[in-house]
Amino acid sequence: MAEIKNTLTSTPVENLTVTQFVRVPGDKSISHRSMILGGIAQGTTQVTGFLESADCIATMKAMQSMGVKIEKNGDKYLVHGVGKQGLKAPADGIIDCGNSGTGMRLLSGVMAAQSFDSTITGDASLNSRPMTRITTPLSMMGAKVQATEAGTAPIKFSAVEHLKAINYQSPVASAQVKSCVLLAGLYAQGEVSLTEPKLSRDHTENMLRGFGCELQSEDLTVTMQGGQSLTATDVIVPADISSAAFFMVLACLLPNSEITFKDLCVNPSRTGVISILQLMGADIEFTNQSTNAGEQIADVVVKSSQLKGIDIPHEYIASAIDEFPILFIAAALAQGETRLTGAMELRKKESDRITAMAQGMTILGVKCHELEDGIVIQGDSTLTGGVVDSDDDHRIAMSFLIAGQFASGVIEVKNCENIMTSFPNFITICHDLGLAIQ
Ligand code: S3P
Repeated sequence: MAEIKNTLTSTPVENLTVTQFVRVPGDKSISHRSMILGGIAQGTTQVTGFLESADCIATMKAMQSMGVKIEKNGDKYLVHGVGKQGLKAPADGIIDCGNSGTGMRLLSGVMAAQSFDSTITGDASLNSRPMTRITTPLSMMGAKVQATEAGTAPIKFSAVEHLKAINYQSPVASAQVKSCVLLAGLYAQGEVSLTEPKLSRDHTENMLRGFGCELQSEDLTVTMQGGQSLTATDVIVPADISSAAFFMVLACLLPNSEITFKDLCVNPSRTGVISILQLMGADIEFTNQSTNAGEQIADVVVKSSQLKGIDIPHEYIASAIDEFPILFIAAALAQGETRLTGAMELRKKESDRITAMAQGMTILGVKCHELEDGIVIQGDSTLTGGVVDSDDDHRIAMSFLIAGQFASGVIEVKNCENIMTSFPNFITICHDLGLAIQ
């Protein structure tokens, strides 16, 4: 695996075309959930295709530090679940989630319900992200939870005996909030329900069903009887569409090219990036479709096409929430203007993704302007070379590195290490496809 240095450069390769099959690593969301649910299930869960990235490893270590034995066996992980009540206090009382919002918000649902005290924390970026979105419903459930005055981590949890059920109206479409409440709901008495403004990814619901729980999903509401237990099962992690997205845009923009993405998770709550690219004129098809443990999987074929700017429909925002940085690059290189509104959540990710992308694109000569809840990007841009900063955000870094192929000069991207949080072999795949990234 190529080392990921602080600063990387991307140099346009003349006459590059690709025709290739690509298998990107396992889905990050499903990998996190496999460790958490496997850890609190009864019995041994076998996980195939776990994403060995810094974020998911932090979640695995968190479960290990609470007494869950996890071993690697070839390409599989065996998670020896201790049952819902079997977790122990971590040795120093602290769980460190690194850069991972998913790890922190999901684990908090479990830690809030334990009979021991603990504190959850992360790196500087994670400890500046909003956590009242989870501490509010957890407090309503009777958890003894204390974030900082700014509503951020570190979050302290004090021991409780059990939690109360709630019917929660979430102000944000967030699978992290939904999952936090559902996981806490496993320790609650009564019926727990959560309604969200738009449907967020539903991997937790799918996986809980796989572990033997009963849940009802209707429109924007998920309901379950609190207090249910989990039985170990096998989890097969499909490839991550959020990682594939970088190369989907590459395949669209390179001439005479075609990339087939193998075993991609095409759960409809995740395919917004495909819907948006198709509206922009992309040529994308699904083949070999199947379903495994509630997750839809397919090989996805993306061919060169002429993209055009669009007004991005609000219905696709939640299901494309992680893919906007690379979609902005597609928009800059498409014909005409692209307009995104209603995407305030982008300001609350690993960086403020609207500002980080607008600043970098402006340096590269793209005409764009920020809106409070989105961005307007003029297409037909000729990207110049230049030095941009990822703002320590993996998806910003990877987006500008892909952009380098379409620039007139070298693009240097600062602060790239965090690519390791989600896509450790990103550079290796770039090299396999012929891109010049150093
Ligand atoms: C995730 C949910 C999304 C997404 C994140 C992963 C998950 O966050 O941005 O990368 O695995 O639940 P929100 O649910 O807060 O939008």
